[in-house]
Amino acid sequence: MLLRKLVAPSILSADFANLEREIRDVTEAGADWVHVDVMDGHFVPNLTIGAPVVKSLRKMKDLYLDCHLMIEEPEKYVDDFLKAGANNITLHVESKGDILGLVREIQKAGCHAGITLRPRSPIETIFPYIPIVDLVLIMTVEPGFSGQSFMEDQVPKLATVRDMIERNRYKALIQVDGGVNEVSRPKLEDADVFVAGNFIFKNNYKQAIAALKGES
Ligand code: DX5
Ligand code: ZN
Repeated sequence: MLLRKLVAPSILSADFANLEREIRDVTEAGADWVHVDVMDGHFVPNLTIGAPVVKSLRKMKDLYLDCHLMIEEPEKYVDDFLKAGANNITLHVESKGDILGLVREIQKAGCHAGITLRPRSPIETIFPYIPIVDLVLIMTVEPGFSGQSFMEDQVPKLATVRDMIERNRYKALIQVDGGVNEVSRPKLEDADVFVAGNFIFKNNYKQAIAALKGES
């Protein structure tokens, strides 16, 4: 477990007309990573942003770009995200293709690789990935949109993964994403990295980030 908690604002809730300024502002306010929600209109009903945006953001050299791929056929796009300069690429276990092979390809390219699952998928579906990946993401909303209500029934998955990682001394960090705010945060102590969209971008950035880090 990391000694300090990390915060990854999801830019899906940012002002896209001022994306660079938004990212500078959250970074100055204490954000550790930037979470990029990639949706293809197939795996989830929503359509968002892709590798060209990651490539543009890469101009800000110090950013850690954490890309969450909610897409049906990641095999077609992983290479684009690697070339664009992603620091982490998280794949859904429910996506099509050889997900384990893609995890290895991502890591071979010098990028971190994460695994995640939809809330309705049993936690066992990601067990084979946990020894290998750099990040395990537990979704606490149905992927597709920001601003949804936190699904408390997903919290036990965090404890299961934490226990598995600690017992076996695996390297993976645990991330939580969806409806994370000052109310849900106390239930999420097993996570290392907190993704938040609405809670950060609709509040005072510094106060919201400090609340998620447990500094306030
Ligand atoms: C949902 C995305 C989340 C979402 C978080 O599909 O993966 O990252 O944007 O937004 P909030 O924090 O508003 O639930
Ligand atoms: Zn996400």
